[in-house]
Parts: sequence; structure tokens; C-alpha cells
Amino acid sequence: MASRLLLLVAVVAMHMQLYAVDAKTLRPWPPDCSTTNGYTGNSQYKKNLDQLLATLPAAAAENGWFYEGSSSSSPASDPDQMFGLIMCYADRDAAECLDCLSQASAAITAVCPGSRSARVVYNPCVLQYSDASIRHEADLTVLICCLRLMSELAAAATASPLRLANGSTPYLGSEEMYGLAQCTRDLNGSECARCVSDYVGQLGSRFGNKTGGVIKGYSCYLRFQVAPLAVTLPPAPSQSLLLATGGSSSSSKIGMVVGVSIGSVLILVVLGLCMCFLLWRRRRKQAELHEETRAMEDEFEKGLGPKQFQYVELAIATDNFSETHKLGEGGFGSVYRGFLKDMNLHVAIKRVSKGSRQGRKEYASEVRIISRLRHRNLVLLIGWCHGDGKLLLVYELMPNGSLDKHLYSVDNRLSWSLRHKIVLEIASAILYLHEEWEQCVLHRDIKPSNVMLDASFNAKLGDFGLARLVDHARRSHTTVLAGTFGYMDPECGVRGMASVQSDIYSFGVVLLEIACGRSPIVVLDDDVIHLVCHVSDLHSQGRVLDAVDPRLNGEFDAQEMKRVIMAGLWCTQDDQGMRASIRQVVSVLRLELPLPSLAKRPLNTDPSSIETNNV
Ligand SMILES: *[C@@H]1O[C@H](CO)[C@@H](O)[C@H](O)[C@H]1NC(C)=O
Ligand SMILES: *[C@@H]1O[C@H](CO)[C@@H](O)[C@H](O)[C@H]1NC(C)=O
Ligand SMILES: *[C@@H]1O[C@H](CO)[C@@H](O)[C@H](O)[C@H]1NC(C)=O
Repeated sequence: MASRLLLLVAVVAMHMQLYAVDAKTLRPWPPDCSTTNGYTGNSQYKKNLDQLLATLPAAAAENGWFYEGSSSSSPASDPDQMFGLIMCYADRDAAECLDCLSQASAAITAVCPGSRSARVVYNPCVLQYSDASIRHEADLTVLICCLRLMSELAAAATASPLRLANGSTPYLGSEEMYGLAQCTRDLNGSECARCVSDYVGQLGSRFGNKTGGVIKGYSCYLRFQVAPLAVTLPPAPSQSLLLATGGSSSSSKIGMVVGVSIGSVLILVVLGLCMCFLLWRRRRKQAELHEETRAMEDEFEKGLGPKQFQYVELAIATDNFSETHKLGEGGFGSVYRGFLKDMNLHVAIKRVSKGSRQGRKEYASEVRIISRLRHRNLVLLIGWCHGDGKLLLVYELMPNGSLDKHLYSVDNRLSWSLRHKIVLEIASAILYLHEEWEQCVLHRDIKPSNVMLDASFNAKLGDFGLARLVDHARRSHTTVLAGTFGYMDPECGVRGMASVQSDIYSFGVVLLEIACGRSPIVVLDDDVIHLVCHVSDLHSQGRVLDAVDPRLNGEFDAQEMKRVIMAGLWCTQDDQGMRASIRQVVSVLRLELPLPSLAKRPLNTDPSSIETNNV
């Protein structure tokens, strides 16, 4: 009898534990949050919404697991009335349903903070609210389960010499989703990317409601499923295969002579063609360079602000670009310290290396974009100079160099209050770029080495070489892969779209980096993981503050620190749609919005150890 009772208790306890685990991983499918007209902390909207969200779960529990309602019964008298709907899906048991009902309200405000209308689907239930009454019409939108995994695999396949990549990711609950992306090996990287990203784009419409699927074509292949995939990597090609030219083993002497002669003639012809092509290309390049220079001159002369310099002026300012004036070496050239006597001004002069086409492109976009921007947290462009294939940019001098140097220097550690000030300053620069200027500016390379510090450690965002202007309505830009590994949004690489969300991702990594004093790629117990994963693991275990930079010796304001880290996690959410806007980040950092309560990611360990952690 006693043993039976014990067994019963054990079974109940186990059930409750599983149930608790499931509750922890109540993760939304890509949510639909309205972004315009958001409500503020103490508006009538917010009160009505809170009231509505508080009543829905209990009402649904009493009403056959479905309920539709509104915040007040007399719509005419309350213009701020809110409407909502909640329901369980039938493939879950009662415990899961009730659990989902009870958590969905809190979860939706975390996922869509400040939204006037929102719709979120979880595995066991769906919740939506709106400031307009619910339309009882079928919505044909299909949500997709594993877009991120497949996007990452597509990017990895594109980059791999074998044009294939496989991997897995924790799926909703405790399951694992496996995937494979592969191209035929005749395709170059960009063609492979074109194929797989097109297929990834089709996943939603084809398999939105499936836990597995295959898209296969003549050039590429995508597959995902909840069970492990047996992947067999191809063996290396054998040498004999490479040497075989298709000739038969019993070729006659005549055959060989003819073959050799034809071969030599062919080689000569090909060599001749190559020479012609090279000459033609060189001429065309020169013509292009000339054309580009003229176009740039015309365009830049019209703008106000920065001015054109003569090369000699800059050569004098830098002692003919002597080594002693050199401040550093960048991707596309060197930077020199200079003094302009006429203007009585210390400047930094960037000399773009001549031959690089990419360098010229970046030069043009720097002058085009940054010369039109004015903000105290952006590096000021003083002028430019081009001619004779020389390209030079003149900036205000930043005596304290870039942020990364200070973040990782041994002796000169940045205090928390300074770091916090720098965080706010970068955020306000990005706010200006994304939302406050006449067009939306995507920086595309936000990282500590592009944050410069002036004499009094004011932070200024610089290096606009990769920046792009887009309309406020579009907020994204189709592009080739650009940016810096570690700071680059994984979603962006695959879709070939730079967007405000991909800038936000990079900024999120920088926030975590400043708080933790670690570079984006972390080595922990011989494991190489991304800083974002490391910090979100700690967050899942409820100990984010363990991530704080030990060099601060515990000297920091815990409230501010927590906000910087949580904002960092919010910005680096897997799903672009769940990331904060820069305005929301600024509000969180300035303590104007409550801390976001982010869904905790499941740990990257096996499910049994998750259970023990939760006991
Ligand atoms: C990819 O497939 C190989 C071969 O089956 C396997 O060893 C490897 O673990 C897989 N990688 C991932 C990330 O699943
Ligand atoms: C890749 O291949 C396509 C088609 O052959 C070609 O148009 C494109 O220029 C190639 N891209 C690169 C970067 O070589
Ligand atoms: C799932 O999606 C496919 C295609 O999108 C559709 O044909 C099918 O009816 C859907 N199944 C369910 C159960 O919704």
C-alpha cells in the first residue's frame, strides 16, 4: 500500500516537473505585433488591455477553452475599448491547454510590448487582441517553424566548398529539428545563395503547418524534420579522375600527334584571348574610374558642410603621410593624424588604397551619406579629396581612439558609468540614423571598433563605408553579404537583406560586449559559442548578472547593468520580428519602459539536465 502511494506521488511529481519544463518553454511562433500608434505606460488603452488580458484565461477555462471578449460591455462610452480572443488547440492535453491559457497573456505583452494589436500562436494555444473588434473572417497567413535554422544552413551551404550544410536546433518543447541545405557543386557561392534563399522563402507557404518538409530542384535542395537526418559527406575526389581527359587507353601515335598539335593551337588561341581581355578590362577600368570621379565631384560639390581638399594640403598636414603620423591600418587603407594649419584643426585622415574597387565604393558612400548627417554622436566628416586615383577622407580627430581598444586594454579599464554613458550615446546615434533623419540610414557595420571616443570620452559612431540609405517605409535593402563576423545578423546573410533589424542585432551584440567585456565569440570550457548564446543561457538560469565583466570588480549599478544586458538579448532575438526597435531600446535604457520579460530559450543541453535545473 505504502509503496503504491509512493509510486503515485512519484508519478504526480514527475508529471508536474515535466509540466513545469513545458511552461518554461512556452515559445511563440513568429508573432504579429502592430508597430504604429503604440500605447504608453499609463494610458487608458493600457488599463483596458491589462483588464482584458487578465480576464481572458479564466473566462476561456470556464468556456470550453475558447473565449472572445472585450474590455468593457459598452463600446459607445469607451473609445479605448480593447477586444481579444483566446483558444486551445485540440492536439494538447488539458494540463497543457490550461497552462498555455494562464501564461499567454503575460507572454504576449513580453513579445509585443506597447502594441495596440497583436496575435501570437503557441504550440498549445492562440491569443490575439486588438483595438478594433475581431473580424470573424479566415486569415490565410501560414506561420513557419524553422526558418532560422534553415536560413543558417542555407548561408553555411553557400559558404562551404561542398555546397552543403546540416545542423539542428531545439524545436518547440523538448524536441530537436534537423535540417540540410545543399546545392549542386557547379554553382558559385552567389548562385547557390540565390537558389537556397529562394527555397527558404518558399518554406512558409509550402510547409508552414508541417514539422518536416523537402524542397528539391535541379540545383538545390532543402530538407527539415523533427527526427535525426542521416547525412553522409561525399568522399574527396580521387586523383585519377581529375587527370583523366576522356582519351582511350590504346590511342595511336598519330592520334597523339594530332591531339598535341590541336592542343598547342588551342592554348595559343586561349592565351591570345586572355591578353585581349586583360587589355580591354584595364582600359574599361580606367574609363570607369574617370567617370566615377567626375560623378562624385559633381555630386559632392553641391552639398554643404564638408569641403574638398587639395592633396598637397593633406600631405603637408601629415608630413607627407609619414609613419610617425600613422594611427592605424584599416580594411581599405591607413589612417593618419594631421594638423590643418589654415583651419587650426587636428584631424584624422583616412587614405583609401588605390586599387580596391570595394574601397572606392566605400569611399563614395561615406562621403555621400555621412556628409549629409549631423549628430553629436556621429563622427564628423570635415572633407574629402580625390584625384589621381587617390581617395582621402578627413574626419575630426578622436583622441581616445576606438571603443574596442579600451574595452580590452589591460590597464585602462572603462568604469561602468562611462560604459553606460557610451551605450546611451551609441543608442541615440542609431535612433537618429533609423528614425529621426529624413531617410532611414542602415549602418550595416555597428561594432566597437567603429565607435570612436573623443577627448572627453564622448562616443561617436563612425565608418559609414557600408551604410545605405533606404526609405522609411521600406526599412530594408537587398544586398550582398557585408559586415563583420560575430556582429552580423544570421537572418540577414541568408535573405540578402540588410534591415533596421540587422543593425539592431549588431547593436545588441555590442551591448552584451560592453556589459560582459567579452568579444562576440566566446571560448568556454573548450566550447566556442556566440556571446548571445552564452548570455541567454545564463538568463535562462536566472543569473544574467554572472555574465558581467569581472574587470568591473562588481562596481556597477545593478539596475542599469540588467537593463543593458536585457536590451542586448532583446535586440538579438532569433526572430527579427521579436527584436526591439531602437526607440524601445532607448526607452528601456533610460528606465522609461519596464524591462522586457523575454521568453527564456531552452538550454543547449539535453532535456534531462534542464529538468534537474528546474527542480
Ligand atoms: C551533420 O552530419 C554529419 C554526418 O552525418 C554529423 O556527423 C554531424 O553531427 C551533423 N552535424 C550537425 C550539426 O548535426
Ligand atoms: C556566379 O555565377 C553566375 C552565373 O554563372 C555569374 O553570373 C556570376 O557573376 C558569378 N558570381 C561570381 C561572384 O563569380
Ligand atoms: C497544410 O498546408 C498545406 C499546404 O500549405 C495544405 O494543403 C494543407 O491542407 C494544410 N493542412 C492543414 C491541416 O492545415
